[in-house]
Amino acid sequence: MCGIFAYLNYLTPKSRHEVLDLLVNGLKRLEYRGYDSTGVAIDSPENKDIVMVKRCGKVKVLEDAINEGFSGKEYDAPVMTHVGIAHTRWATHGIPCETNSHPQRSDEGNSFVVVHNGIVTNYKDVKTFLEKRGYVFESDTDTEVIAKLVYHLWKKHPGYSFRELVEQVIQQLEGAFAIAIKSKHFPGECVASRRGSPLLVGIKTKTRLSTDHIPILYGKDDKSPQTCEKEHRPHGQTRELPVLPRIESASEFMPLEEKEVEYFFASDASAVIEHTNRVIYLEDDDVAAVRDGTLSIHRLKKCQDDPHAREITTLKMEIQQIMKGNYDYFMLKEIFEQPESVVNTMRGRVRFDSNTVVLGGIKEFIPEIKRCRRLMLIGCGTSYHSAVATRQLLEELTELPVMVELASDFLDRNTPIFRDDVCFFISQSGETADSLMALRYCKQRGALIVGITNTVGSSICRESHCGVHINAGPEIGVASTKAYTSQFISLVMFALVMSEDRLSLQQRRLEIIQALSKLPDQIREVLKLDKQVQELAKDLFHHKSLLIMGRGYNFATCLEGALKVKELTYMHSEGIMAGELKHGPLALIDDRMPVLMIVLRDPVYVKCINALQQVTSRKGCPIIVCEEGDEETKSFSSRSLEIPRTVDCLQGILTVIPMQLLSYHIAVLRGCDVDCPRNLAKSVTVE
Ligand code: F6R
Repeated sequence: MCGIFAYLNYLTPKSRHEVLDLLVNGLKRLEYRGYDSTGVAIDSPENKDIVMVKRCGKVKVLEDAINEGFSGKEYDAPVMTHVGIAHTRWATHGIPCETNSHPQRSDEGNSFVVVHNGIVTNYKDVKTFLEKRGYVFESDTDTEVIAKLVYHLWKKHPGYSFRELVEQVIQQLEGAFAIAIKSKHFPGECVASRRGSPLLVGIKTKTRLSTDHIPILYGKDDKSPQTCEKEHRPHGQTRELPVLPRIESASEFMPLEEKEVEYFFASDASAVIEHTNRVIYLEDDDVAAVRDGTLSIHRLKKCQDDPHAREITTLKMEIQQIMKGNYDYFMLKEIFEQPESVVNTMRGRVRFDSNTVVLGGIKEFIPEIKRCRRLMLIGCGTSYHSAVATRQLLEELTELPVMVELASDFLDRNTPIFRDDVCFFISQSGETADSLMALRYCKQRGALIVGITNTVGSSICRESHCGVHINAGPEIGVASTKAYTSQFISLVMFALVMSEDRLSLQQRRLEIIQALSKLPDQIREVLKLDKQVQELAKDLFHHKSLLIMGRGYNFATCLEGALKVKELTYMHSEGIMAGELKHGPLALIDDRMPVLMIVLRDPVYVKCINALQQVTSRKGCPIIVCEEGDEETKSFSSRSLEIPRTVDCLQGILTVIPMQLLSYHIAVLRGCDVDCPRNLAKSVTVE
């Protein structure tokens, strides 16, 4: 998904070269989100103009263009105060090309330049409005309307501050956005806002920050908007384009004023962590403005329960966590981090000495959850698979009906939701638009919302009533790996909490808790299969398809394995429920079709062997994933992977790791970009 990075230095001398390095580096940190073109805007050293460089393709291409285009002494001269904005674009409106890349500009003179994430759904209306006033559009993007609308309002209201202009503009926008805007008419100022797309402000000062919160300045809602112009909408309707109340700074609130300060506006924390760990997560409709080095946060009107201030959060993340280290790819690093990431998920929660589990983030809500009508687990992609993987255990340990839903389908169906439902939203990023929309849908209907996320401060995190932070650490590779195993464990821990006072379940709980304690070492054992998996990948990478079969606790591994293969290798792959084999998929089997089967010694073992026989008797030559030392199962094939034995409900954690490794190796052999697969984004903030 698109990425925003903007940098403002106030009374902190920086040359333009340094600023450009900073911007490019910020974009590199956002590369993992997925993108197809890039761009930056800085002040020109020659005059008061803004210069932009935009390129199709990778940040490296932009970096080379900057190195070629911005040479000269004037770029080495320090500037006391400066604003630079930068962007990685993931095309939604218009093909990836330089004209459609961001920053988008208001006019040929680059009066206002904008970087934008999200989709402005009413951009056609706004565009028509502006075209009727003589504005000529150069790109196919929805973003260009933002730049031109600010410019238009600036011409109409010369007395307005930069921040006031942006406030007027965002009132006209529908859809989702995060924006950062720079203007040659307001040098040294930057205004940013968000609705539906994440945005944070990093603050770096030489000395300790003078405050740990920024007061919010609210507009006065007693003034009704005055009409300024009529906007002609298609189909003959007209709509007022109102001038909204101007926000006056209330004197009792002092915004953040620091003498020497640097601000970073970014789509996520990984872009700012090497500069500062002090950030403010903006909320929907916040307008953050920096003027004369002072940051203030504004909202148009105050609603009941709105806070008086935004807190400055200290990030726990370390820079090393977002560096590749000795690994070739983030994905590989993240696969190999799993022995530690699962420990981090359980740390302070599972007490192996007393066999107890406490989830601080939902503790107070457990009595309410126990009284609920049903549990709904909602997510997309890999996060959804973690719900599939744990459903059976949740049903067993909570004795409640458990529904597992894909967020997009859930919304399409207008699924009935009741006040006594408990809805879990599982999301690594915490920003996935479909999951967030589904969350709001359930919240409106009075359900209790539980967030299971990996990103502190994310929208799902903030909008949930309570939740579990999975603590997997930053996941940079687009393909989710360690987040999956941590989501899985988080849901298992929840099931354990729900069953703590059920006498009949104590033996089962004990067995699971003890198995959890062995999991990190067992994951290390599975990771040792890497070389073997690489050899299997050599057999498979030239094929067109791979079928992955299993059932029971391992069906989720089949779905997740197939998703990994598809997204990373661009090969067709399907996760098949082994019980469904004879209802269709068996027709695919012959001596050429690559098949992988998961056959473990669990309650469905005999049924799995049945499926295995159905495949081998049709000349299928499956690769078998089985338990260590299970010679009988291994005898069905010449190729197998042996994984350590664990309790049935945790097997999925061990069986998914060979799938992650397999997809990785096939992708490398096929020459695919492992960390940024084509057409995919890490954080899908559009529906
Ligand atoms: C696949 C993958 C995606 C995400 C999905 C949901 O490897 O990463 O399928 O799982 O887009 O994303 P989150 O978990 O951020 O809501």
